[in-house]
Amino acid sequence: MIAQLLAKSPTWASGDAAIWQGDSLSLLRLVPEASIDCIWTDPPYFLSNDGFTCVAGKMVPVNKGDWDKSRGIDLDHEFNRTWLAECYRVLKPAGTIWVSGTHHVYLSVGFAMMQLGFRILNDIVWEKPNPPPNLGTRTFTHSTEILLWATKAPKGSKHKYTFNYDEMRQEAGGKQMKTVWEFQAPREDEKVHGKHPTQKPVSLVARCLRASTNSGDVVLDPFMGSGTTGVAALGTGRRFAGFEKEEEYTRLAILRLKDRRAVGSLLPRGQSRLSQDVL
Ligand SMILES: C[S@@+](CC[C@H](N)C(=O)[O-])C[C@H]1O[C@@H](n2cnc3c(N)ncnc32)[C@H](O)[C@@H]1O
Repeated sequence: MIAQLLAKSPTWASGDAAIWQGDSLSLLRLVPEASIDCIWTDPPYFLSNDGFTCVAGKMVPVNKGDWDKSRGIDLDHEFNRTWLAECYRVLKPAGTIWVSGTHHVYLSVGFAMMQLGFRILNDIVWEKPNPPPNLGTRTFTHSTEILLWATKAPKGSKHKYTFNYDEMRQEAGGKQMKTVWEFQAPREDEKVHGKHPTQKPVSLVARCLRASTNSGDVVLDPFMGSGTTGVAALGTGRRFAGFEKEEEYTRLAILRLKDRRAVGSLLPRGQSRLSQDVL
């Protein structure tokens, strides 16, 4: 039972999924060593520093919340190193981790990964076909995010990380899949229960999980926001554990994971592994 992963009762659990509301650093310390197959996460980007962006043709403040404010380069990097060190500890020897971010965070995340002994396998470029316009007109318009994919298994070790090469090749029309992936922003039907300011498309996370995990594997997201990783994990037949400190987003994630349509839409017909109480 995924709800028993931590020696602490979850805020919500149902069959193959459990959510704990709280600070991810404290919660990660409660996760047993080498118990997780895969981590997919989207940590704070530290970009809420009073700039402006464009949403639906309107100029709006870029601020997402206090959780996204920078405390300076050194402290931001220390934060990344601390949570990534816990991720290293809780991953199984052949486990992999995906971290998504913009240039505000991925350089620090990548450096921290190297400092901790992770082996970076790929840097995936997520290309957004319809990015918001750049209001400042002093740089190119931002239209990508980077996903770093790394493993704990050193090169040549007996521990082989999962890469479902054939499935990815099939998904790429019979050719080797490249590292530039085009995905639209989350669809409207992914926001029926409410919105998160940095919500990721389910299809993007689902591809990562299909590539790097197998049915029944345990996927953890220590900064789960609206629970996109959970929807993708359950929808592809994996198990999910998620942490989030804000009550509003925890509630949103629970609603999304309870939603049969959201979760079920990724699975081929008749292949639901979900327990009855999730459905
Ligand atoms: C970039 S968002 C993740 C969005 C998510 N991928 C989605 O699709 O909804 C990061 C989330 O981490 C949460 N967060 C920030 N610091 C945290 C901490 N120390 N512990 C737990 N959650 C935290 C924020 O509240 C925010 O919801």
